[in-house]
Amino acid sequence: MRFDDLDGVVEIERRVFSNPWPRYFFEKDLESGNTVAFVLENEGNIIGYAIGSCIDVELHISNIAVKEDFQRHCLGSRMLHEMEKVAIDRGCRFAYLEVRTTNVAAIAMYKNRGYNIMYIRKRYYLDGNDAYVMHKELR
Ligand SMILES: CC(C)(COP(=O)(O)OP(=O)(O)OC[C@H]1O[C@@H](n2cnc3c(N)ncnc32)[C@H](O)[C@@H]1OP(=O)(O)O)[C@@H](O)C(=O)NCCC(=O)NCCS
Repeated sequence: MRFDDLDGVVEIERRVFSNPWPRYFFEKDLESGNTVAFVLENEGNIIGYAIGSCIDVELHISNIAVKEDFQRHCLGSRMLHEMEKVAIDRGCRFAYLEVRTTNVAAIAMYKNRGYNIMYIRKRYYLDGNDAYVMHKELR
């Protein structure tokens, strides 16, 4: 993901999340050397992205999203896999993330990729909803 990808990224972010990240969150992360971020393109258009950060031995996955028409074609899983590979190369041994307890699709994808629910963070989101913290040991 580069700065000039952010129009496409932010457009998807606004479509698929009820509390989307503002653009400057992405800008701030892209300026950090800890960030791992991808976009997926189809015919020159951005159709998905993933962003996270490697700090010490932990990969924190901030956001993964696939444009609605392209969902359910293993693209989310592939981005997750790529992010884990980069994180392992950078010395990470664990990955974790927060996900809305109501987000059936994302929870299923993470479980498929070996993530376990560790605990609930109550009222984690601005709208008062809870998050599961999911965790995986990277190999
Ligand atoms: C979560 C998301 C990234 C998944 O991406 P995707 O490319 O559609 O997912 P995949 O095709 O890789 O799916 C992998 C598995 O996850 C599960 N899954 C994915 N979408 C699902 C859905 N809508 N309902 C139930 N299970 C689902 C399935 O087990 C699927 O495997 P299968 O298709 O062989 O049954 C996508 O739904 C999305 O962008 N959602 C909106 C943004 C979001 O909530 N991101 C997560 C933030 S933590």
